[in-house]
Amino acid sequence: MVDFDAIRAQFPILDQQIHGHPFVYLDSGATAQKPECVIEAESEFYRTINAGVHRGAHELAARSTEAFERARAQVARLVGANSAEGEEEIVVTSGATGGLNELATAFGNASLGRGGEAARRFALGPGDEIVVSKAEHHSVLLPFQELAARTGATLKWLDLTEDGRVRIDNLDEVITDRAKVVAVTHVSNVTGAITDVPPIVRRAHEVGAIFILDACQSVPHIRVDVKALDVDFACWSAHKMYGPTGVGFLYGKRDLLEALPPANFGGSMVELAWMDRPAQYMEPPARFEAGTQPVAQVVAAGVAAEWMMNIGMDAIAEHERMLTDRLLSIGDIEGVRILGPANDRDRVGTVAFDVDGVHPHDVGQFVDAEGIAIRVGHHCAQPVHRHFGLYASNRISCGVYNNLDDIDRVLDTVSRVRGFFLGK
Ligand SMILES: Cc1ncc(COP(=O)(O)O)c(C=O)c1O
Repeated sequence: MVDFDAIRAQFPILDQQIHGHPFVYLDSGATAQKPECVIEAESEFYRTINAGVHRGAHELAARSTEAFERARAQVARLVGANSAEGEEEIVVTSGATGGLNELATAFGNASLGRGGEAARRFALGPGDEIVVSKAEHHSVLLPFQELAARTGATLKWLDLTEDGRVRIDNLDEVITDRAKVVAVTHVSNVTGAITDVPPIVRRAHEVGAIFILDACQSVPHIRVDVKALDVDFACWSAHKMYGPTGVGFLYGKRDLLEALPPANFGGSMVELAWMDRPAQYMEPPARFEAGTQPVAQVVAAGVAAEWMMNIGMDAIAEHERMLTDRLLSIGDIEGVRILGPANDRDRVGTVAFDVDGVHPHDVGQFVDAEGIAIRVGHHCAQPVHRHFGLYASNRISCGVYNNLDDIDRVLDTVSRVRGFFLGK
């Protein structure tokens, strides 16, 4: 049995009063709080190791490289990455947004002929199609919309069911043999719904398309196995999985990483550079890690991955499911509408809702006055909100440190919103 009270006690930030109330953090979908071991790993790195990686003959550079590569291995284990031969499949990025842009830019480069024959599988042009879903965060939608604009390809999308799940009943219609890229979110950052990914991957592969998973909101909450899902690429951010800001990870099947042209250029990604000849780039993952790496943050992200694995992803998912069950009773409050699945099937503990007659910013402020942090706005997913006929909503999102008292406090506070603003 995991002692979740003891886990909560590892988060120093939670031990404070906000506006005279014990702090409740329910905005983990935006960014997760950090356990002591992650905070310590980052500062310990600066205190004892700080040096660049993969260069320099001195001892600290060697220790830094070792710590950086250990973190890569920890993150790989968290999602089941690396080839059967043990070849690296995890690339360090600046975050999910960074990774997704890198992929879209690399595909754009391939469309210009960069990367030669091997990269032709990533090339797009007029007549080709890119498929996303209406559930996408702008971090998926916009890079691939731009890629379509740059290459002349057409952007298409999978629609949503009434309760906001990605529709999979018409895959053959939407993903045709013109599709070259399919990019879909694993878990919506608005509705908390888990996408039924396997049939979409199967269909993408059936027509020869590359499948990209946005795993930003799944990796922190459920077991993600990139091999079992058979996705070609996946991107996520460290800061939502209890790690530091500024870094993220890109998973790519080894043969695809080897064929993909780089998107960023500079130091540490090149084997040979000349004035009068094209450079010879390094093998992945170095080829995709141009410039000085955020080593302290990567090392701490590795510690976060190890920390999550020590708790156990199934235990984390089970704990959050228990919270979600209680949280979903928010839909029983008069005037409150849940945006997304109202049952706990195939969802995580992220629940967006609308309070009839009260603007989300007013709701957010009312809740904040009680020392409770939730998120308001469109959560960088405007098409999802349009699907529900709204521009903005309120969002409660759970993390491993939340408990039923947190949920009861937010439920009680939300139940008083309409009385305060509307006298109802
Ligand atoms: C589903 C989803 N995808 C992508 C992102 C982008 O992550 P980041 O801002 O860390 O790059 C987010 C962040 O909110 C997200 O929730």
